[in-house]
Amino acid sequence: MSTATKLLCLRPADPIRLETRRTAMPRPGKGEVLVRVDATSVNPIDVKRARGYGQRLLSHKGAGKFPLVLGNDFAGEIVSVGARVGQCGPGDRVMGLVPTGRKGSAHATHLTVDARLARPAVDGLASTALAAFPYTFTTLWLALRGAGINEGNAKGQKVLVHGASGGLGQLALQILAALGASVTAICSTANIELCRNLGATAVWDRTRCHLEELPDHFDAGLNFGAWEDEATLLGRLRQGALGYATTVHPLLGHIDRCGLLSGAWRSRQDWRFMQSLASATGARYRWIVFQPDEGALDMLYQFLARGALRLSVGVSVPFASADLAFEHAARHRKGRAILLPTGALSS
Ligand SMILES: NC(=O)c1ccc[n+]([C@@H]2O[C@H](COP(=O)([O-])OP(=O)(O)OC[C@H]3O[C@@H](n4cnc5c(N)ncnc54)[C@H](OP(=O)(O)O)[C@@H]3O)[C@@H](O)[C@H]2O)c1
Repeated sequence: MSTATKLLCLRPADPIRLETRRTAMPRPGKGEVLVRVDATSVNPIDVKRARGYGQRLLSHKGAGKFPLVLGNDFAGEIVSVGARVGQCGPGDRVMGLVPTGRKGSAHATHLTVDARLARPAVDGLASTALAAFPYTFTTLWLALRGAGINEGNAKGQKVLVHGASGGLGQLALQILAALGASVTAICSTANIELCRNLGATAVWDRTRCHLEELPDHFDAGLNFGAWEDEATLLGRLRQGALGYATTVHPLLGHIDRCGLLSGAWRSRQDWRFMQSLASATGARYRWIVFQPDEGALDMLYQFLARGALRLSVGVSVPFASADLAFEHAARHRKGRAILLPTGALSS
């Protein structure tokens, strides 16, 4: 096959404007592999970017200009390899990450990617299931590290997780429970059972109870829910707390609205205020920005190989129905949204 197909977001718009387009088949460069993408995820960030979010900052990375090809992770099969790739070869099933940037584009039938960002597909897991993990797990792993939580210190820690029923939250619940932490999950009423089943020791129904009424005894906090709740959540940390990380910070939004300098200044003001709340308890404070992380991919492989993680798929559709996957992610519906670029059957 000499052409590949990409899914393009035509312009920043809501409803999102998508179109497929044939392009020349990419060729793997030195250290790269060419992958036939069997499945790739649609995450909340893809939905936001399709509506124009992050355009100003990401244009500095060559990733802000429309039409955009989105997507940061994939599961598929290696078609060919470039020079100096020894660890894998054609025919290998792999999963992996694509950085956000000039070449960032997993929503395609084929992509070239640095071989270091691909890992073997775990036996027994279909591409549809695998593609749900790399981006979400990597961000979660960066958040755990950002909050100072690791395999060595998690046991017995009281951790507060906001947005616990989402993709990041579900992985946090499972990993923290496996590491022996005691997790309080914040979610809406419909998701209480889900959070309990995934290992939460306590669940706080955010639709019925004020977050201010949570106890202020937490060792660590993770905010995957809403920036508006940041100060309240930080107020729930105990003196001597370990740390806190958020993925829902206003960095890109500020820069979109105010430009690079003014947006960065506003972000700095917000960061300093929240950081002061965290440091009043002694906790470290981090804003998380997704980037490919080889250590995270290694950990993901280990967790999946042990059968220790699950993340349900809510919808898996071919490119022709890609708007359904974007709609699913936009509405925070249950299960991940997966695209099947080559039209592979979901399983
Ligand atoms: N900074 C980065 O690089 C980065 C990377 C990945 C993700 N993110 C962001 O992190 C967030 C979580 O990602 P995800 O993939 O886990 O998203 P997700 O699967 O859509 O889950 C988010 C969950 O947050 C809860 N939620 C939604 N709106 C809320 C609100 N207004 N207040 C409180 N909770 C709310 C919902 O659960 P309940 O209704 O049950 O509470 C929802 O299931 C998203 O905003 C995403 O854009 C950022």
